[in-house]
Amino acid sequence: MENRSQWGTRLGFLLAAMGSAIGLGNIWRFPATAFDNGGGAFFIPYLFALLTAGIPLLIMEYTIGHKYRSSAPRSFKRVSKGMEWIGWWQIGISFIISAYYPIIVAWAAMYAYFSFGQSWGDDPTGFFVGDFLQLADAGTFGSMVPAVLFPLLAIWAVVFLILGRGIKKGIEVANKIFIPLLAIIFIIIVIRAITLPGAVDGLEAFFAPDWSTILDGSVWVAAYGQIFFSLSIAFAIMITYASYLPKKSDITNNAFITGFANSSFELLAGIGVFAALGFMANQAGVAVSEVARGGVGLAFMVFPEIISQMPASGLFGFLFFASLVLAGLSSLISISETYIAGIQEKFNISRGLAVAIGGGIAAVASLFFANQGGLNLLDTVDYFINNYGVALAGLFEVVAIAWFARSLKDLQNYANDVSDIKLGYWWRFCLTFITPAVLGYMMLQNLSNDIANNYGDYPIDFLFNFGWVVAIGAMFFGALMTTKKWPNE
Ligand code: ALA
Repeated sequence: MENRSQWGTRLGFLLAAMGSAIGLGNIWRFPATAFDNGGGAFFIPYLFALLTAGIPLLIMEYTIGHKYRSSAPRSFKRVSKGMEWIGWWQIGISFIISAYYPIIVAWAAMYAYFSFGQSWGDDPTGFFVGDFLQLADAGTFGSMVPAVLFPLLAIWAVVFLILGRGIKKGIEVANKIFIPLLAIIFIIIVIRAITLPGAVDGLEAFFAPDWSTILDGSVWVAAYGQIFFSLSIAFAIMITYASYLPKKSDITNNAFITGFANSSFELLAGIGVFAALGFMANQAGVAVSEVARGGVGLAFMVFPEIISQMPASGLFGFLFFASLVLAGLSSLISISETYIAGIQEKFNISRGLAVAIGGGIAAVASLFFANQGGLNLLDTVDYFINNYGVALAGLFEVVAIAWFARSLKDLQNYANDVSDIKLGYWWRFCLTFITPAVLGYMMLQNLSNDIANNYGDYPIDFLFNFGWVVAIGAMFFGALMTTKKWPNE
């Protein structure tokens, strides 16, 4: 443990943590989630979720990683013996996410290139699902799609290179380049977007508060879900990253900086996306709500249309998709680092071998998403792994620590010893009562919804095999991994 790799500088750690947090969730998930859940009024549940769950949990994960200086499963085991499986479960979740996340990065890389010639022509939606993805019906996988496969392999090559170089020379250096570059590109995009005709209509639609939503439980659930995904909480990431901090590092301050930087970027993305949507609505003479979308639809169907209508569009399109690539890559690296650290420690192997095995298996798994059925599979796995993976593992984590291991006071003292900002009773209160209550409610609401309705109208056996089995499989994987002993124990 004495030889554990370390970040070279505090800034290096912060940029890596921000790189993990700032991802596709900020650019395409946040703007649409905010808009669909009350616009300006959504900021109240969102801020509440950030302050009562996001930052408190981030502080908790940073503290665990820093105190126990190990991968997530071993750190959890050191908090309390029975908790190791939660660490492996979170690693299983990250592994699954790392199988489909690079697919989206690969699409974005291709679209950065397509932007110059606007290869999507007059029908971006038809081009995306037809010419580009050659989409097959849900449940059929068809053949590999070369336009996805080759950029995917290139993305993995970059990830291998960065991870193979280690924490300081690989991850830290990459984030020191990616994150400032991403910030510059994004500021250019936002300035361009808000100076387009109709941008104000988009911003008005985005910020207009619908106060009637504030009492709706599902809006609060959406706010907590957004904060979890966006801050990379319960992914095993932040514990792993904090385990590489030098002994004398501030924890609480770092968590506040990461949390606020991530939310600022989210707000900036909301402004940029809605200004652009305002422009599109203005050109088409329709309401902003008619063009507002999130996720894959926003990035690969709506944005190409906006790009085509803009002056000097090639460059804007390139910058937009390049920002998705940078944000996605820096998150993907952090997601993969979780299992690399885990298997390196559990099997006592070199980092190089751990990168080759962990990254290699993830790269092979990602091929399942590079065929003609890839989009349906991705959509399903993403939905289930977020709701019954990340959020559920977050609930188990916080309940295990606050209620069973009763370690919060201990962790609070530890964090206070090394940090400028001192944690008080509010921190324990948030983690003991508020977060478990909201996450528990969220789980029940999602469950009753998913039992009553087939997500995305996909066939039931498809949802069973690739939704439920995958999400529950990650939990079983966690239990299985605990059966092997750690070296030197
Ligand atoms: N936190 C990462 C994102 O927002 C996973 O995409």
